[in-house]
Amino acid sequence: MGLMRTALLKASQSEWLAQQVRGRRFAQRASRRFMPGEDVEAALAAADRLRERRIPTLITLLGEAISEPREAERVADEYLDVLDRIEQRDLPMQLSVKLTQLGLDVSRDICIEQLARIAARAGETGNYVCIDMEASPYVDATLEVFRAVHGAQTNLGICLQAYLYRTADDLEALLPLDAPIRLVKGAYNEPPQLAYPAKRDVDANFFKLAQRLLTRSRPETAPHAFGTHDPRLIMRVQDFAAGAGVAKDAYEIQMLYGIRRDDQYRLAARGYLVRTLISYGRHWFPWYMRRLAERPANLLFVAKSLLR
Ligand code: FDA
Repeated sequence: MGLMRTALLKASQSEWLAQQVRGRRFAQRASRRFMPGEDVEAALAAADRLRERRIPTLITLLGEAISEPREAERVADEYLDVLDRIEQRDLPMQLSVKLTQLGLDVSRDICIEQLARIAARAGETGNYVCIDMEASPYVDATLEVFRAVHGAQTNLGICLQAYLYRTADDLEALLPLDAPIRLVKGAYNEPPQLAYPAKRDVDANFFKLAQRLLTRSRPETAPHAFGTHDPRLIMRVQDFAAGAGVAKDAYEIQMLYGIRRDDQYRLAARGYLVRTLISYGRHWFPWYMRRLAERPANLLFVAKSLLR
């Protein structure tokens, strides 16, 4: 892993740095590259614009690792409100949630309770919820909570990370549930005992896992998704799918708001299912630093925002 990437991922965990940066105008300007605004209405307006290009969306409230049960309830309440707003506007927008923001560090029961509230309300409005996958110490707990809620709420999917050695086994264990899976490379600072350190090995494992997902039939609730901006990998996935007779609309390609926007438009125009994940909220610092770590060249944008 590159030194810059490691340094940025370490910095992403610093609460002190987060406090220094959050209120600064230049940092807010720089963060706009990856999020339309801190307010939910900014996210919904961006989703409206993407809908015009036939690109459905996912929305996530930024924040992680809360430590008070009340906070988990408040976050879940906010998601319920977002679901109402989505329904009012009839937006093709799903939810993407982080379990540490729903109390995973506080108590598993609280987390299950809050996730179940969100999934139940999403189910009532015909919507769908995907659980993000966080750093490796949370993987077992995340899978457990997913299974606990998926039993009653099948409109629930989960993200798996191709950089972890364990993911092939996790995928096999999940497949019989017929739940939609979002495959990503993985965004955290993981040790070589747990994760492939070389990007080419991560890419190879991503493709192997993608093939496995594509040879399964599409889950009933939502298609499996490939969350990546990597044009070569996307092309390999598409070629494999076409060769295996998998229709273009039987799987999704998901990307983050603001990244490779032209590719998103182009793929959607060519009839692929593309979905954009839009983030909002005040607690964007760790998430933003992970975006910088994925592409340290992004630091140039930060420098430009600082100079402006
Ligand atoms: P890669 O890093 O190889 O980049 C390929 C190309 O994409 C780059 O050359 C560049 O052009 C562009 N690009 C990628 N990242 C960029 C950036 N930050 N800024 C500018 N350009 C960039 N991770 C996780 O651990 N848990 C999760 O739950 C999720 N969820 C998730 C949902 C969705 C919809 C997406 C798209 C991604 C995630 N991720 C995630 C993040 C994921 O693990 C990974 O860190 C990023 O997608 C970056 O890797 P790529 O696959 O895009 O390829």
